[in-house]
Amino acid sequence: MALAKPYKDVPGTTIFDAEQSRLGYHLNQFCMSLMKAENRARFKADERVYLDAWPMSEAQKEAVLARDLNRCIALGGNIYFLAKIGATDGKSFQQMAGSMTGLSEDDYRAMMIAGGRAIEGNRTRGEVSEATPTPDQAKVTASVYTSHVPAIGVAIDQGKTGDPYWQPVFAGYEASKAWIKADPPDVIVLVYNDHATAFSLDLIPTFAIGCAAQFQPADEGWGPRQVPVVQGHPELAAHIAQSVIADDFDLTIANKLDVDHGLTVPLSLLFGQPAAWPCKVIPLAVNVVQYPVPSGRRCYQLGQAIRKAIESFDAPLKVQVWGTGGMSHQLQGARAGLINRDFDNAFLDQLIADPATLAQMPHIDYVREAGSEGIELVMWLIARGAMSDAPPRVVHRFYHVPASNTAVGHLILENT
Ligand code: DHB
Ligand code: FE
Repeated sequence: MALAKPYKDVPGTTIFDAEQSRLGYHLNQFCMSLMKAENRARFKADERVYLDAWPMSEAQKEAVLARDLNRCIALGGNIYFLAKIGATDGKSFQQMAGSMTGLSEDDYRAMMIAGGRAIEGNRTRGEVSEATPTPDQAKVTASVYTSHVPAIGVAIDQGKTGDPYWQPVFAGYEASKAWIKADPPDVIVLVYNDHATAFSLDLIPTFAIGCAAQFQPADEGWGPRQVPVVQGHPELAAHIAQSVIADDFDLTIANKLDVDHGLTVPLSLLFGQPAAWPCKVIPLAVNVVQYPVPSGRRCYQLGQAIRKAIESFDAPLKVQVWGTGGMSHQLQGARAGLINRDFDNAFLDQLIADPATLAQMPHIDYVREAGSEGIELVMWLIARGAMSDAPPRVVHRFYHVPASNTAVGHLILENT
């Protein structure tokens, strides 16, 4: 079943949704560049040369050169962005809008003065929708939960996994590596938090989904990890955004996102050091850095909405949802180094057996019991919510103290 997009039936209208936005990303970014006088001057001096500096499609460039706004919109342009071209040309919004209607400028103005375009005859395309065959749908096959301590990445990158300190940590992932190698997913929706890397205090999205085709490993201050570039799945990501936002979850769309240890360390733990990651990854970043952070309940519900979205995607993809971060750790203040084994193990028990009740736990319990950074555990509830309601099969469970400041927890659950 394709997603309900009833707005596709409104005539002469293109709704700028996540799918259009992905298509038009570079076109719209080019338009934004015209907000600087110096760029407008360069564009006017040689439009073709200026456009060639942008990774737009040839069709998009030709549509801009021809000032064919309908074509620009079909190719992913949004009118508020395209209006920067009009502004550069000295055009009003009325001139721009009129240029898309087939009317002359005078006729369009006259139509508006006469009361505007009538609603009658302009509500629907009036087409009878054709029955389309239903291809196999995507499905959530499993969920994976793991800590994402940056020092684990350093140990892998520097060949120290066999050191006495690290050996017990990596031993806990041997079975997981074999499991995923035997039946790799097509796509991973990887829930993680950005650690003051891609998001500064300028912009703090509660939930952000990466809709780009690629995500670069971030430079977190000590240079980017030498790991493969993360390949996204823009179509599925846009579909998830469309579906969950329609279900009242206010996701931020990230069309450019460098990914930090929160995302790359879990990939390294499960896949080792391949030349390329063996599947596509959709980053889902959750704010757990500045309060207010989302509740466990909200995270669990978002996971359920993500499951519904995945299961309505028309391609037979095997999708895993991963939750990362945790378990108990505190990286700040006089209480740094806090570890609570009892809390962590009870959390694992309840995550498996009764996630709906676990989701009711308030933030203060995470902070008090699992340390200030233990709040990362709320992200595990997103992955758990994406699993089916039937009890899952526990493929693997692991717990070890310490990795750096953290209690490493790891769980794999399969849908039965
Ligand atoms: C550590 C753990 C984290 O989850 C993190 O994001 C940064 C540091 C640590 O234990 O050192
Ligand atoms: Fe972290």
